[in-house]
Amino acid sequence: MTAPAIFPSLTRDEVFRLETPRLWLRWPTMADAQSLRHWVGKPDVATMTSSFPVGISVNQLHERIAEVRAANADGCALGFVLTHQGDDDSAIGMVGVSLRANGALALGYHLHPALWGQGLMTEAVKRLVNAAFALTPELDDIEASVRPDNIGSRRVLEKCGFASVGLGELLSPHYGRVAVKRYVRLRSEPSPLALAAARHAPTAPPLGFQLCGLV
Ligand SMILES: CC(C)(COP(=O)(O)OP(=O)(O)OC[C@H]1O[C@@H](n2cnc3c(N)ncnc32)[C@H](O)[C@@H]1OP(=O)(O)O)[C@@H](O)C(=O)NCCC(=O)NCCS
Repeated sequence: MTAPAIFPSLTRDEVFRLETPRLWLRWPTMADAQSLRHWVGKPDVATMTSSFPVGISVNQLHERIAEVRAANADGCALGFVLTHQGDDDSAIGMVGVSLRANGALALGYHLHPALWGQGLMTEAVKRLVNAAFALTPELDDIEASVRPDNIGSRRVLEKCGFASVGLGELLSPHYGRVAVKRYVRLRSEPSPLALAAARHAPTAPPLGFQLCGLV
């Protein structure tokens, strides 16, 4: 089933990009597979995602890039690679939000391990989240799911205004059933009461939530 478009025509062309103080977020191209292959398939990256297998091949990366580009062009996703600002246009990470079949918008990301701990992904996620809300006035929230032991990613979400709404489970094509901590970023700041209610709601089926990393 094809998800309905939610992003405007402005974002559906590869000239569309976002800027942060240190980064560009631009559409991925097939050439980016040559950079991505150096880290995306490593166990400490891939196993934290739901859609990238350990040891992912260049051909599989081409398929993923084609999927991201198609979803961008259809207005169902904002999926980008990160590059440093300046002359080097090499991909150093990926970040994106994509529409799930149930209408939820889910966030995913990963970064080259040599660059962890410098605040780069926080910078990228903040920019993407702001853009997603600005571009889609009808969007109420963005979701993300994280393995509970992925402290760095949980911290990124918290720094970007995501609130924990409890535990859940998802079905990964590569890792089977995965226990996750679920997060939601509302357009506006949530009230403590709303957060408490969400935390104590019965565990919902995993549909619509995904491990960060599917971009
Ligand atoms: C998650 C990931 C994108 C973070 O990128 P990053 O650019 O290093 O993130 P940031 O530097 O913006 O923020 C990381 C925060 O986590 C903290 N952190 C990282 N590892 C931590 C740990 N083991 N314990 C406590 N804090 C930790 C950092 O100190 C930092 O917080 P601070 O700014 O308050 O000090 C990167 O580690 C990654 O690509 N991991 C593998 C893929 C992945 O996990 N994707 C997300 C799946 S949900």
